Amino acid sequence: MSKTQFMTLARHIIEGEKRHPEATGELSRLLSDLSLAAKVISLEVNKAGLVDILGYTGDNNVHGEKVKKLDVFAHNILIRAMDHGGHFCAMVSEEEEEIIHIPAKHKIGKYVLLFDPLDGSSNIDVNNSIGTIFSIYKRITPDDKPGTHEDLLQKGIKQVAAGYVLYGSSTILVYTTGEGVYGFTLDPSFGEFLLSHDDIKIPKKSRIYSINEGNYLYWHSGLKKYIKYLQEEDEKTDRPYSSRYVGSMVADIHRNLIYGGIFMYPSDHRHPKGKLRLMYECNPMSFIVEVAGGRASDGEQRIMEIQPTSLHERTPLFIGSEEDVKMVEQFIIQELVK
Ligand code: AHG
Ligand code: MN
Ligand code: MN
Repeated sequence: MSKTQFMTLARHIIEGEKRHPEATGELSRLLSDLSLAAKVISLEVNKAGLVDILGYTGDNNVHGEKVKKLDVFAHNILIRAMDHGGHFCAMVSEEEEEIIHIPAKHKIGKYVLLFDPLDGSSNIDVNNSIGTIFSIYKRITPDDKPGTHEDLLQKGIKQVAAGYVLYGSSTILVYTTGEGVYGFTLDPSFGEFLLSHDDIKIPKKSRIYSINEGNYLYWHSGLKKYIKYLQEEDEKTDRPYSSRYVGSMVADIHRNLIYGGIFMYPSDHRHPKGKLRLMYECNPMSFIVEVAGGRASDGEQRIMEIQPTSLHERTPLFIGSEEDVKMVEQFIIQELVK
């Protein structure tokens, strides 16, 4: 597509569905509703330094972490934008322990939505990038009843769409329905998402790694050896790598998706399952990265093949350029077989 042709998100989604005669148009409508929520959150994020929205609410989320007001705002906006469209039979948010059911007055739909309303929330107060992540599945229980755990606890490979919104130097929405990964930048003057990143492909090998090195002491030895390996000098393999870590997974993975890179949140001696959540952080990001030609694993297994057992479970994550993820897997497995 020529850069002078304005391709809006809405048009792009509709054209994608046209290639599938069996499509009902529902996914288009649902993604449009999501993009509306993204615009509202983006506006609020941009105002964060101006209005009295900073600081803690005093409440803890389901993981016992302090919740900032903007997390709650984004959580509420997403529910308000998505619960009455007739698309969903259940939702899950990082900020709510239980399933979010669709109010009885609204039609129940055939999809489920899982989301992290605001990712990287420790960055809000310091004007660093933050994001929203979403994951969509088709329900598997009968259509006329409220959604259940069974509908929500599906493997990542069953996702029908996933995406993220990055509130950075500009706001960008990246999504996939399994055929290509597309990025749309929000034009703040007329409020449209316009195609800016067509058919994103992640470089097969990179020279960037992203990990919280403050946890070095607690890492397993395979990972310690891998990071040391990245820091050694070797022209042939383009080492040493550069280290880049924002502390917002959406921002870190978005950069790596465009430039190439590996993002890691491993398990360690203190956190046997790592930190990140499978259902609304790791699975959607893995779907996007894999469709873009990358790889995502927990060190031993493909993230999207993990059978989830609870809504908020955690998993270690190694995600990004294919060759880099394969390399860290080798280091981890070598230690395990010792
Ligand atoms: P959230 O703000 O949704 O709780 O997620 C924060 C996550 C993720 O975005 C980021 O990569 C990671 O936490 C950072 O954790 P550390 O501060 O432990 O590095
Ligand atoms: Mn998060
Ligand atoms: Mn969050």
